[in-house]
Amino acid sequence: MCWPPLPNRPEPPKSAYALRVSDDQTENVPDRVPAEHVPGVGPHPQPWPDDPRLDPELLAAGDTRNVLDRYRYWTLAAIRADLDTRRHPLRIAIQNWSHDFNIGSVVRTANAFNVAGVHIVGKRRWNRRGAMVTDRYLHVLHHESAAELAAFCAEHGYTMIGIDNLPGSVPLETAALPEAAMLVFGSETSGLTDELAAACTQLLAITQYGSTRSINAGAAAAIAMYAWAQQWADPGSGVAHPGGN
Ligand SMILES: C[S@@+](CC[C@H](N)C(=O)[O-])C[C@H]1O[C@@H](n2cnc3c(N)ncnc32)[C@H](O)[C@@H]1O
Repeated sequence: MCWPPLPNRPEPPKSAYALRVSDDQTENVPDRVPAEHVPGVGPHPQPWPDDPRLDPELLAAGDTRNVLDRYRYWTLAAIRADLDTRRHPLRIAIQNWSHDFNIGSVVRTANAFNVAGVHIVGKRRWNRRGAMVTDRYLHVLHHESAAELAAFCAEHGYTMIGIDNLPGSVPLETAALPEAAMLVFGSETSGLTDELAAACTQLLAITQYGSTRSINAGAAAAIAMYAWAQQWADPGSGVAHPGGN
């Protein structure tokens, strides 16, 4: 194999990864992915429906955003407002020390589970790459410290549950989760800090069966949100496929 690549090497096929941008530019990323990757819809035939939730630009140009079919052509504000009517009383907190790629993944899953909020603890700027702009439909809050997060939870009646396989943790699989739960995850490099772990009511671990010490925070968050949903979400209020009602 030649390295570096030969100058006349053909371009790799365009893929969704073409959307990757530097972390600082995500504010400007259009909420679109190429039509060949997401089955979107083209321009809406005339006459257009008389519905204030619909975005004239999307009606004219088509809608290839990564949204459920029911939200096709809706404005971002209308989608957020609709999600706000049925957010789960579940919140997710993640420590942000190392600009970790996992945080975007956590945010995307948090959107899928329609949580009430995502809380970034530590550095304000977080790595949005894996979020695929799903944060726009969420309420993302920032806290400088564990104490600030704990104060938020005390004020709003949320129980802090640390998700980490630290000493003293008990299996998530058999734990009863509170309905108003703040699930707290550590950073990929160092895990939950002592301070944040101490602020949690209990520590829950996802039981593992292989040789690795841990799974990545994005995967752990997805498992924990699913576990919460198994106990508290109404499957009838969700959708199993993007075209579902
Ligand atoms: C890579 S792990 C951090 C280190 C981990 N405590 C260790 O000793 O290797 C990053 C984060 O993912 C989550 N995590 C990873 N594996 C987990 C597990 N088996 N149970 C619960 N959380 C886990 C935790 O939130 C953890 O802080």
